[in-house]
Amino acid sequence: MSVALIVAAGSGERLGAGRPKALVELAGRPLVAWSIDALAQVAGIEQIVVALPAGATLPPMVGAVERAAGAPRIVAVEGGATRSESVLRALAVSGQDAPLVLVHDAARALVTAALAETVIAALAAAPDADAAIAAMPVTDTIKRVDGHGAVRETLDRSQLWAVQTPQVFRRAALERALDVPAETLARATDDAWLVERARGKVIVVRASEENLKVTSPLDLSLAELLLARRTPGGCQQRS
Ligand code: CTP
Ligand code: MG
Repeated sequence: MSVALIVAAGSGERLGAGRPKALVELAGRPLVAWSIDALAQVAGIEQIVVALPAGATLPPMVGAVERAAGAPRIVAVEGGATRSESVLRALAVSGQDAPLVLVHDAARALVTAALAETVIAALAAAPDADAAIAAMPVTDTIKRVDGHGAVRETLDRSQLWAVQTPQVFRRAALERALDVPAETLARATDDAWLVERARGKVIVVRASEENLKVTSPLDLSLAELLLARRTPGGCQQRS
């Protein structure tokens, strides 16, 4: 059994929509609704906790999602000032008895139930791992550049993966990893890094290019196009 934490409390500065990104409309519904819908279909998830911006409420579709047979309970919590603080707050109200915790960025609105199930299964199949994370091998050549614009190093691309969410953790490992000073939490752009710092073992699961992160207006347009390609009516596909 697992719980899912969806972090959706960011301000969406780079999208520049004038309101929190999670509430921006994507193909007819708030962006956060897509992730709630997808994760509600995941086998074994018994609760979804959504960290929302102050004053925001869960989208109206949540009632219908919860009424579906076997659907998880969905609760909202006010997010924190940083992404990691939002994770902490969501973790604090989540059921303590679930051994696995899935963390997902609402910004990855195109996540599918199938991808989440694949990541959960990868961790279940790796008893020595503390976390399994969705990721893709990078296709661009990556260079390290100094503050003056000069290239310092070209990294070996064959070993580089671009990390996504969902990320699935053994609960105790995630709790330990998050038990660090606020300044360390503020530096974390994902939770797996905190587990790595605590010498935990993290494995990658090959995800999909479609699991893109909505950061800029271009990403939002791309996400709209990709959702339009899915089943009629815009429903999430499981594959
Ligand atoms: N997030 C959060 N709480 C915060 C900051 C971020 O829950 N204090 C969430 C965002 O809602 C998002 C995910 O973390 O789903 C990844 O963050 P990002 O894509 O950077 O979203 P924003 O912080 O909203 O965007 P920006 O950095 O452009 O302001
Ligand atoms: Mg941000």
